[in-house]
Amino acid sequence: MAGSELNNSMGPLADYGITRTRGFIPATDPLQKLPPAFACIERVSSELPVHLKQGSLSEAIKRMDSPDLGLLNGTAEQERLFLALSVLANACVWGQRQPDFRIPETIAVPLTELASALQRKAVLTYASMTFFNWEKINPNGDVCAENTRLLCRFLGTRDETWFVTSALHLEVACAPLLATLYDAVVASSRADVDELEHQLACLANQMHVMTDAVLKVREQCDPTIFFNDIRPLFSGWPSPGAVYEGVSKSPRILAGASAAQSPLIQSFDAALGIRHSEKTAAFLDGMMPYMLAQHRRFIQEVRQASRIRSMVMRKGSAGLVSAYNTITDALNEFRRRHFQLVNEYITKPSGQAAITGTGGSSFSEFLRDAGAATRQASLPADH
Ligand code: HEM
Repeated sequence: MAGSELNNSMGPLADYGITRTRGFIPATDPLQKLPPAFACIERVSSELPVHLKQGSLSEAIKRMDSPDLGLLNGTAEQERLFLALSVLANACVWGQRQPDFRIPETIAVPLTELASALQRKAVLTYASMTFFNWEKINPNGDVCAENTRLLCRFLGTRDETWFVTSALHLEVACAPLLATLYDAVVASSRADVDELEHQLACLANQMHVMTDAVLKVREQCDPTIFFNDIRPLFSGWPSPGAVYEGVSKSPRILAGASAAQSPLIQSFDAALGIRHSEKTAAFLDGMMPYMLAQHRRFIQEVRQASRIRSMVMRKGSAGLVSAYNTITDALNEFRRRHFQLVNEYITKPSGQAAITGTGGSSFSEFLRDAGAATRQASLPADH
């Protein structure tokens, strides 16, 4: 049944915090400001670009009271505070000439507590940066890169804003694809072949949107500015890690905010039955604790419920195979163009040095492997 959201193995989309119009972006716009009890942290985080320019951040943080989490009311406020704290934590570590891998107690303690309440890693994540960090410029306009600006930012530049809002744009642009993918998973789990063929054909027609959207970053984010000024601030804590003062003396190693933490592409892999190499699968699994709990549950349940690949192989009709292959080809094309972006935005400006990604991977080999696994998913026409 087209558009149905009930089946034996998966709940309705709303159970996973997904909508047909915004995908993984929450249905309610992010909270623009914290309540007055958090005015101090709101001020320091809104003045962050100035503090980073003037080198005054540690003084400002010393003057800050630790926020009282008991005063928070609901998830929107928790997410908004989590965003502010995690941006400040990254600024403390990476915002100075020499990185300082100690996060002050005023930030480290509430950040750790909130992370545990939200079941996420105690660090800046793609979810905080992209899903909970924007407001519309024109309140009546769309949620798109052209009509959104950031609530928390390190530098306050056009390039930084666009880097983040173009990812937000992609998530919203791909919402109808995600919904159709879900419908296809539901059809497959009910063994409804006609419905599966219909949904896969719909999806095949829409897949180009994903690649078009990933290239949008080029419009207003310069690769050299990204590499030198923006990317370092989004990094995580590489070995030996960062100490969360007031929490533990042992340093923690954590990934930075990378779009590898987006649940979108992993949902496609899960639904289409794409099998990554052991190393790539381990990296992608490692990104799941950085996602919203509902979103990781979605991926896990799609993995269990989807019979798409096995049904296409078993039934083998030309229509099913052709639609399935068009979708995996398009996913491969997304990965190929994404790899070009990585070369343009990281490898080239770095002078071709062997470096690791914000998510902590040795990315060239890893991204090549992910592409190869996607290509291998393609089925022979006479299957
Ligand atoms: C200029 C823009 C971008 C750059 C420079 C970039 C860079 C990278 C790098 C270096 C990795 C390797 C993992 C890591 O260590 O972080 C990666 C992985 C990944 N990125 Fe991006 N990325 C960009 C935009 C995006 C966007 C907009 C998306 C869309 C959601 C995305 C989705 C992914 C995914 C899904 C992975 C995991 C590998 C895979 O599944 O193929 N990236 N990215």
